[in-house]
Amino acid sequence: MPAQVTVIDHPLIQHKLTLMRRAETSTAKFRSLLTEISMLLAYEVTRDLPLKTESIKTPLAVMDAPVLAAEKKLVLVSIMRAGQGILDGMLQLMPTARVGHIGLYRDPTTLVPVEYYFKLPHDVEERDMLVVDPMIATGNSAVAAVSRLKETSPKSLKLVCLLAAPEGIHNFHDQHPDVPVYTAAIDERLDEHGYIIPGLGDAGDRLFGTK
Ligand code: URA
Repeated sequence: MPAQVTVIDHPLIQHKLTLMRRAETSTAKFRSLLTEISMLLAYEVTRDLPLKTESIKTPLAVMDAPVLAAEKKLVLVSIMRAGQGILDGMLQLMPTARVGHIGLYRDPTTLVPVEYYFKLPHDVEERDMLVVDPMIATGNSAVAAVSRLKETSPKSLKLVCLLAAPEGIHNFHDQHPDVPVYTAAIDERLDEHGYIIPGLGDAGDRLFGTK
C-alpha cells in the first residue's frame, strides 16, 4: 500500500462501518452512522494540526493554553453528492470550518469527468483543505476533483473517505502521490460496474434513500 494511505482502524469506526455495510440497515441509521464515523475520521485526520498558546484566565489562574495555530479556518470540500454525508459529521466536530462543493459527472461518450458545480470559500491558499467522498472506487472522481482543487493552491490537502478499492487507491496515488489519503477500510476489488466489493452498495442512494 502506498505510504501516503492511512487506514483508520479504530474499533468504533470498524464496528460502525460493519453496521453501515449490512443490507438491512435503514437510511436513517446509515446516515447517523456515517455522521458518527465522520466525526471519528475527522479526529484522526486533524491530529497534526499545529497549535500555539494563548494566555487565558480560568476561574482560578492565568495559564498559557493551546489553541489551533492556523489564522484561517479549515475548509472541507464535499465531492457531490455522497460527500455531503461525511461533511455533515465533520461539521459537527468542527462547526466553524468553511465549506466548498465540487460536482463532477462522467461524460458518457468520452468518459472524461465534467465539472457541473464548483464553489469554494475565499483565501483557500491560506487554508488547510480536507476533500471528502465516502467511496473511492475507480478513483477517477477523486483524481479529477483533486486536480481541480490543486489549481486553487490550498495550504495543504488531504483526501478522506470511508471505503476504498485497491484499484482506486492506486489510481489516485499514481496521479496525486503528494496527497495523503485516509480511509476506514480498503476492500477486495471493484466489480464490472465499478462498485466496491464487498462494499456497502451505492453510498449516495443509501444516504439519501433514492433507491
Ligand atoms: N460509489 C458507491 O457509492 N459505491 C460503490 O461501491 C462505488 C462507487
